[in-house]
Amino acid sequence: MKIYVPMDSAAKALGADEVAAKLTQEITARGLEAEIVRNGTRGMIWLEPLVEIEKDGKRLAYGPIAEEDVAALLDGQIDTLGKVEDIPFFARQTRLTFERCGVIDPLSLADYEAHGGLQGLKRAIGMSQDAIIDEVKTSGLRGRGGAGFPTGIKWDTVRLAHAPQKYIVCNADEGDSGTFADRMIMEGDPFTLIEGMAIAGLGCGATKGYVYTRSEYPDAVAVMRRAIEIARAAGVLGPNVLGCGRAFDMEVRVGAGAYVCGEETSLLNSLEGKRGVVRAKPPLPALEGFLGRPTVVNNVISLATVPVIFAKGAEHYANFGLGRSKGTMPIQIAGNVKFGGLFETAFGMPLGTLVNEVAGGTASGRPVKAVQVGGPLGAYLHTDQFDTPFGYEEFDGQKALIGHAGIVVFDDTADMLAMARFAMEFCAVESCGKCTPCRIGAVRGVETLDRIKEGDASAIPLLEDLCEVMTDGSLCALGGFTPYPVLSALRHFPEEFAPNTAQKEAAE
Ligand code: NAI
Ligand code: SF4
Repeated sequence: MKIYVPMDSAAKALGADEVAAKLTQEITARGLEAEIVRNGTRGMIWLEPLVEIEKDGKRLAYGPIAEEDVAALLDGQIDTLGKVEDIPFFARQTRLTFERCGVIDPLSLADYEAHGGLQGLKRAIGMSQDAIIDEVKTSGLRGRGGAGFPTGIKWDTVRLAHAPQKYIVCNADEGDSGTFADRMIMEGDPFTLIEGMAIAGLGCGATKGYVYTRSEYPDAVAVMRRAIEIARAAGVLGPNVLGCGRAFDMEVRVGAGAYVCGEETSLLNSLEGKRGVVRAKPPLPALEGFLGRPTVVNNVISLATVPVIFAKGAEHYANFGLGRSKGTMPIQIAGNVKFGGLFETAFGMPLGTLVNEVAGGTASGRPVKAVQVGGPLGAYLHTDQFDTPFGYEEFDGQKALIGHAGIVVFDDTADMLAMARFAMEFCAVESCGKCTPCRIGAVRGVETLDRIKEGDASAIPLLEDLCEVMTDGSLCALGGFTPYPVLSALRHFPEEFAPNTAQKEAAE
């Protein structure tokens, strides 16, 4: 018998370690022959700690399980949820990038290979650099960090650059509110990221990689570091990758968690040991990146998707999705929802379906008022926009962005003026200070929103002007995108801005 208890940090926060310890104690006391496997999460957070028991060829789920439920669980007195694959939230997904997450022991290379791992790398080894890059281009993969830039074109820029050393940098500084996909894959299937980075290295001619992540992710750091050691010992990483005669090795670097260090040039400065300040572009990191050398900077999910593209073929991947948004996206559902967690699906599902059906509406039972998509710099979408299919161009058409695909749901008690103020305040706190529209604009934005709150409607055009300056004049997305949440809140909920104006005018 195998008993799976997630070691994902969300599951641990809900008591998974205590459940595992109690299981060990009970198994020993009862003299049972059972192995406890600490897996990743299946992504259904409301069911965590989700324990799975594998017996007689069947793997059944139980959850949420508390420490005090363990004895009853082993006595067979707890009802099963059935197979995870049959739970509606899970059954509706298309899992490509997250196919193995929660299924395998994250630190067993044998388990990884038994579930299709390393097939992509083995195929890539037999391909030329050109062919590797063509495969990525054909798949239609675009940057999953948020900007959606075509990954194959970025890799090609690095490949074509002349330099004695090139690098692959994985941006794992997942700072968007309501996002956790990077962390989940690092904790639940770290070899897939390693494999993706090795393929990127072979394709671009880079021999060294770095995973840059944040100090708030200690579990992901520990799992990644251990997985790298295992991969190195097995010859997956090192001077002779899987015996192919080419080298690729990597390490994990930990930043202090400044939001702006998720911006690629600021990240590179931090990786070089400097203060995390944004660099002007050009030069692009693809030409002058880490230590001035050509560098691929890709998000965790972009790189972790590469193995499945090579294992199943670019066409297979490109067959999923909608328009120019090819493949699948791990959507992270959070905020005021009944069913929060990770939902991987092909691009194209309407936002309303995600919120009302997949997430089950609000946990409070009150009507949905707004959904913020794409982190703290993402727009608030109104329920009138719920027909919008989940895709890069489709969201752009709504003056919104999908970003790293975090969606945070709010019910009708949300104060949208306060949310707009929070966006400006967040920008003021997290600004790296390099450019004026962001450094000073965000502070003026907070003051202007306070004036509006006091009933000064004449400050609304000033806020709009300020947002225009921030959009057009900021050096990076932090200052440049803060107007998305501010203006979308103003556009969709105008009645909440300067609500006292009418009374004031009447009194005068
Ligand atoms: P960007 O549009 O400037 O660049 C996108 C990527 O393409 C960059 O890596 C850039 O170097 C590369 N690139 C552009 N032209 C290229 C060329 N000709 N050849 C090779 N590479 C090229 O966007 P940026 O500023 O890097 O990212 C902004 C996005 O980041 C936003 O859309 C936002 O959603 C997202 N974001 C994500 C966060 C997260 O936690 N994942 C946090 C904050 C923002
Ligand atoms: Fe720094 Fe803000 Fe300018 Fe970005 S927009 S470079 S975070 S000051």
